[in-house]
Amino acid sequence: MRQDDGPGLLDALREAHRGAGPLPALAPDGYARDHAAFEARSDQRALIADHLCSRLAGRPNGPVSVLSVGCGDGALDVRVAARAVAARPARPVRYVGVDPWAGSADSWAAAMAGLRCDALSAESQVATFADARLTGRFDVVTFVHSMYYVPDVAAALRAAYDLLRPGGELLVLSGPRGVLNALTDVLAPPVAGHRQWFSEDVARGLADAGLRPEPTTTLAARLDLVGASDRVLDFTVQGRLTPRLRPLVREYLAAVARTDPAYDGPRVPHPVDVHRVVRAA
Ligand SMILES: C[S@@+](CC[C@H](N)C(=O)[O-])C[C@H]1O[C@@H](n2cnc3c(N)ncnc32)[C@H](O)[C@@H]1O
Repeated sequence: MRQDDGPGLLDALREAHRGAGPLPALAPDGYARDHAAFEARSDQRALIADHLCSRLAGRPNGPVSVLSVGCGDGALDVRVAARAVAARPARPVRYVGVDPWAGSADSWAAAMAGLRCDALSAESQVATFADARLTGRFDVVTFVHSMYYVPDVAAALRAAYDLLRPGGELLVLSGPRGVLNALTDVLAPPVAGHRQWFSEDVARGLADAGLRPEPTTTLAARLDLVGASDRVLDFTVQGRLTPRLRPLVREYLAAVARTDPAYDGPRVPHPVDVHRVVRAA
């Protein structure tokens, strides 16, 4: 008999999906839109923006340069850049955004330009991190929810570290393999032949790359998926769900929300880990 708790329902999903072949991947043109709808149901982005702003505020005086890898449509970086400039209006800020999806990179550039701020220079590049042509060194390099997709985590971490100025910091924000990413693990189609890399893979990659991180910080967000559209549900599992799997996913999410000891309504834990490495000065 099937168990109607989170682990039991995850097993049921695994069973229902077995032998069916990978789900269709999310198409790039819908990805940013569905991501925005997903984030609107969580308090995570606000926590990330606060965290990045406090890291930028802690940088020494003088110009600051930031590389955002997998920058997306700018919804996050524009908040961070605006607050960084408002906090120290005389300080020049250089922001570089890299994303392989041209639609996102263009939106990012337009959002940054929309700030109309003389102290801010923003450049975008349509490329994967591996293919990006980056000049100069950076004070801060961020991967916010983008390390899932790189072909080789340790190689990406090492390359990112090498782009830092002495005293610069690498910030990798990734979800752990919790109740949400357990879904991704079961259902998401492979990305270029590999599964998505979670926070635990980043920790391993840092060790493999010979980098020494500061203690990991976890931002404890929550996500409300009750009544979420099919597209938001697809974003949650990172693949196009079938009519057979979708109700099971909804059932699983409801069960997880109910059994969470911190239950405060039908919301599921949506944490993100912050891995930070500082380059020796
Ligand atoms: C979940 S979104 C995060 C966007 C943004 N950082 C944010 O938090 O709003 C992940 C982004 O990583 C990008 N991406 C996927 N593979 C990548 C790669 N190999 N190198 C750089 N970016 C990549 C995607 O196009 C997407 O815009």
